[in-house]
Amino acid sequence: MGMDIAWQEWLGLMIRWLHVVAGIAWIGTSFYFIWLDQSLRQRQDLPEKVHGESWSIHGGGFYHAQKYLVAPERMPTELHWFKYEAYFTWISGFALLAVLYYWGAESFLMDPNRAALSPSAAILTSVGFLAGGWIAYDLLCRSVVGRNSGALIVAVFVLVVATGWGLTQVFNDRAAFLHVGAVIGTIMSANVFFVIIPNQKKVVADLQAGRDPETSLGLQASQRSLHNNYLTLPVVLLMVSFHYPVLFGGGAERGWVVIALILLIGGVVRHFFNSQHAGLTGRALLWQWPTAALLSVALIVFLSPARHHEDLAVSDDKALSIIIAHCASCHAAEPTDPAFQSSPAGLRLENLEQLRTHGVRVLAQAVTSQAMPLGNRTGMTAEERAELGSWIQKNR
Ligand code: HEC
Repeated sequence: MGMDIAWQEWLGLMIRWLHVVAGIAWIGTSFYFIWLDQSLRQRQDLPEKVHGESWSIHGGGFYHAQKYLVAPERMPTELHWFKYEAYFTWISGFALLAVLYYWGAESFLMDPNRAALSPSAAILTSVGFLAGGWIAYDLLCRSVVGRNSGALIVAVFVLVVATGWGLTQVFNDRAAFLHVGAVIGTIMSANVFFVIIPNQKKVVADLQAGRDPETSLGLQASQRSLHNNYLTLPVVLLMVSFHYPVLFGGGAERGWVVIALILLIGGVVRHFFNSQHAGLTGRALLWQWPTAALLSVALIVFLSPARHHEDLAVSDDKALSIIIAHCASCHAAEPTDPAFQSSPAGLRLENLEQLRTHGVRVLAQAVTSQAMPLGNRTGMTAEERAELGSWIQKNR
């Protein structure tokens, strides 16, 4: 008896599980430490070298944290580091990218209408963006621009938006958005791996040897942490954009504007929380949410196509022949496409009844955006999309 094991599906599922959990742990600790830092309060009789303390209650007990600004007199025997959350998030993320987007490069990564790449050239391009993004970012931070925090943040913003523009010129929309997330994620984990942790190690070594640690080490690490902090919300949205053609479907012309808006919205919301944790009140907290809301409305308007009813007369036979030709090779009880053992997303499009039931989803994926057919492997034309749209509008 032969077994039909859907390896790609199973691997994808297991790695995604790990990736999501590691990411939650990383962002969770990062949010926690930002909050802890801002919640520290000074008191007259704190022990020497203690900069502030914070009390909290959780899970039935009280916690009392004290922060030493540089370091305690003597190194504690047990010191906890926080780094594996970041490393595992990146490793599992890259593995997931490989299983989904490299293994299935032709369907998931490439768009022959944008760049005529072979699958291996497309994979190299992807790796090039990840490595190149980090190198460009790191050079920026170390350049003269890096001496001014504000200017640096603007430069990093421009770099990410430009990366987004580049990616939407070579990959399909969905892969391009996911890659912007992957480039940001790579920058964030590389910050931890190449800068923050090594700097902390040097500080610890200096202290153990009785030397005064260089202040620049701490400054550099906190600059990188600040970037990571402002990038957390955009990176999460870009990762889940995968499911939302309404967001990534702007095409090669509009994609970079969408990415710029996502960075601004996420950054402004993060700024609200940073300001609030820092103890700011009143007017200092009034502008962030309204700004984020306005930008979100702008994003939605920007991405909503002007409604033009292409009112084509499309017979039932014609509609059926379109989905049979372009959808049913994958979306069937028994797909004929060798990449799939069962209907993707549990969606079957083998008859008109099914097309009617799933009309709204089909409109989103194959008419308003061009996310389906996957990788446009079946070569669906603009005219066929309009015809499919007209049939659904009339029959749903
Ligand atoms: C080459 C295989 C393939 C073809 C052909 C294909 N799809 Fe898909 N489709 C997928 C896969 C894989 C998924 C689920 C995972 C994903 O979103 O990438 C999917 C998901 C979907 C979804 C669900 C998305 C959601 O989460 O709601 C819709 C709707 C859809 N396809 C519509 C279509 C339509 C309409 C056609 C034909 C015009 C089509 N697909 C052709 C592979 C295909």
